[in-house]
Amino acid sequence: MTNEKNISWHKSLVTKVQREQMNDHRGAILWFTGLSGAGKSTLAHALERALYESGCRTYVFDGDNVRHGLCADLGFSAEDRTENIRRIGEMAKLFTEAGVIALTAFISPYRADRDKVRALVAPEDFIEIYCHCPLETCEQRDVKGLYAKARQGLIKNFTGISSPYEAPENPELLINTGKLTLDKCVDMVLSLLRERGIIPDVHTNLGE
Ligand code: ADX
Repeated sequence: MTNEKNISWHKSLVTKVQREQMNDHRGAILWFTGLSGAGKSTLAHALERALYESGCRTYVFDGDNVRHGLCADLGFSAEDRTENIRRIGEMAKLFTEAGVIALTAFISPYRADRDKVRALVAPEDFIEIYCHCPLETCEQRDVKGLYAKARQGLIKNFTGISSPYEAPENPELLINTGKLTLDKCVDMVLSLLRERGIIPDVHTNLGE
């Protein structure tokens, strides 16, 4: 297949299913969204640790980290955030095809941007996890001191203060990260992953 850019697609000789059978779990995107300070990164990293300990292949894409490299050229305008999410979405898709569980921790404030990522992969491969924590709680925590700066007008377009956050309408999972313990939040995601057959149940292995 060619197009006007004269590029073609080279098909892999190893399929996603073969990689998944080798891993004994499915590849998927776990898309964490929520305000800054809602606990997305903390939850994604704790969950990754739990998955790693049960032998799963995983990788966490973290907003702050990715903005040091792959997305270092992007700021926080609506256009730049859209491009940030597009790049991460494409990257997470590749990891999913590689049979890896890709965990992404980005504010990803725009519903349309998240939905575009959802549309990149099979419906069962995209799990949207809304880390719900009231703005007041995020602001009280203010782990990075950014809310205080945003209130003083020192940071423009700050999500929740001077830039919008569009909450998911129908996420696969809503977690009240403002109230629940980290262990409870991790357990909720693990249960969903078992229910959906992304990781094996204690008694049933993938491919059986
Ligand atoms: S996103 O909107 O494009 O998804 P992303 O998750 O990559 O954002 O980055 C968010 C992190 O960047 C925040 O947790 C915070 O540490 C930092 N940050 C710096 N400026 C802003 C801003 N204007 N709005 C939100 N977060 C910001």
